Amino acid sequence: MSDDKKYILAIDQGTTSSRAILFDHSGQIVSTGQLEHEQIFPRAGWVEHDPKEIWYNTREAIGQALSRANINRHQIAAVGITNQRETAVVWDKTTGEPVYNAIVWQDTRTQKICDRLAGDEGDEKYKERVGLPLATYFSGPKITWILENVDGAKEKAEKGDLLFGNTDSWLVWNLTGGVNGGVHVTDVTNASRTMLMNIDTLDWNADIAADMGIPLSMLPEIKSSSEVYGHGAKESLLIDTPIAGILGDQQAATFGQACFEVGQAKNTYGTGNFMLINTGEELVRSENGLLTTVCYKIGDNKPIYALEGSIAVTGSLVQWVRDNLGLIKDAPEIEKLAEKVEDNGGAYVVPAFSGLFAPHWDASARGAIVGLTRYITKNHIARAVLEATAFQSREVLDAMNADSGVELTELKVDGGMVKNELLMQFQADMIGVPVVRPKVIETTALGAAYAAGIAVGFWDGEQDVIDNWDEDKRWEPSMDEETRERYLRLWKKAVERTRGWMDEDVDALYG
Ligand SMILES: Nc1ncnc2c1ncn2[C@@H]1O[C@H](COP(=O)(O)OP(=O)(O)OP(=O)(O)O)[C@@H](O)[C@H]1O
Ligand SMILES: [Mg+2]
Repeated sequence: MSDDKKYILAIDQGTTSSRAILFDHSGQIVSTGQLEHEQIFPRAGWVEHDPKEIWYNTREAIGQALSRANINRHQIAAVGITNQRETAVVWDKTTGEPVYNAIVWQDTRTQKICDRLAGDEGDEKYKERVGLPLATYFSGPKITWILENVDGAKEKAEKGDLLFGNTDSWLVWNLTGGVNGGVHVTDVTNASRTMLMNIDTLDWNADIAADMGIPLSMLPEIKSSSEVYGHGAKESLLIDTPIAGILGDQQAATFGQACFEVGQAKNTYGTGNFMLINTGEELVRSENGLLTTVCYKIGDNKPIYALEGSIAVTGSLVQWVRDNLGLIKDAPEIEKLAEKVEDNGGAYVVPAFSGLFAPHWDASARGAIVGLTRYITKNHIARAVLEATAFQSREVLDAMNADSGVELTELKVDGGMVKNELLMQFQADMIGVPVVRPKVIETTALGAAYAAGIAVGFWDGEQDVIDNWDEDKRWEPSMDEETRERYLRLWKKAVERTRGWMDEDVDALYG
């Protein structure tokens, strides 16, 4: 390791923004660049991003991070990438142009395609092979939608001109030169979210791709999460710099939280919430609505698996309160409103905006606020909004305990919402075990940095991650059991009210 290379650059391409974060050898943040991108909602249930905007923002964020630390690429040992998973980009490799906007993981437009694929076999048709139920969440059916609905796309794809990727692949292809020799790769964690990868052998499943009408030539090469995939393109800020780590955002956070032992888990509170528990080399199949996913794979080592509970809407509910209702000016303000009242006053918000994800997987649900009376103020709603995140996380934790057969004794948390102390206390109260926040809550970027740094020898391995992890604060549960159980029963009742909302009438009027 030469002295002039002292940092790892992590690119965190998230649902709401793209960040570039420079980490030093002790795992501390040196500088950050960040730009938000537009959330495009063409109709109810549709969510899109502009892939070009994401690429330009990423480039600019890299520039910000480098200039704010006043360094150039000679001091960057490697670049790691982490990304919003499942979001599908399809682009023309001859022009570098996307053929359609990125279809975001929250988008529900592929429900009919999923129903068609399920046929008589139901939504567990591919579960044995890919670890996932058929749901609009995953990338595969989104590719099908683009090929079936964008003029000329199918023909171009069959000719071999189109490439697919989650945003990791899209960025690596562009970073390494795009039309001039860009490499088309992804890592095992991202691939495990497409519904197209065999979860045991880690290669593409040709039969499922054929069912979905996806030519194999569109799919990126599947690599480990930690190896050199390529180098920054000539005439770019990162010229000749190794791109050496890729992890889906939730797997990256699991890595950054040093959950390397079987049974260790973390919960990330961002746009949605995602709880992952490390199951080691064993591939555990859930009986309680969790997903089987690849956690990480370091170079030639065996893959490590995880069980995941995905919740679609948590932090984005706060954004909705800010942007669509205008009750708050920024996200932290929700805590100030919530603090003004003792409890939710009887109101429950179930944010089933994309149906219900884990552990219910009910595509027919839509959001509801229940328990309303003339008594309820915006303060109660603010509180109910925060509590919704804690209730949903408790449901996922129950599923995890049931699947793994062991009870978690504490919960490591990270992500933007964990600055919210009221939420953290209520979370501890709802799960009955301590909630623990690390010093670095940008664990997503940190995990990607470690994956890249390990690949080039900047760090030796997982032990460095463990040594660098440091606790910031913990919240102990303080609610009595009976009160907690009452809350949970009311939450479950509220959830039941949201089911079955989608029907022909909704389709005809708003579809
Ligand atoms: N103090 C707060 N209280 C409640 N929610 C908050 C607070 N601060 C941020 N949030 C919410 O946290 C989310 C941002 O968290 P984070 O930055 O981890 O997400 P993200 O990484 O941008 O998500 P993604 O990776 O999906 O883009 C936003 O949805 C925001 O509404
Ligand atoms: Mg994120």
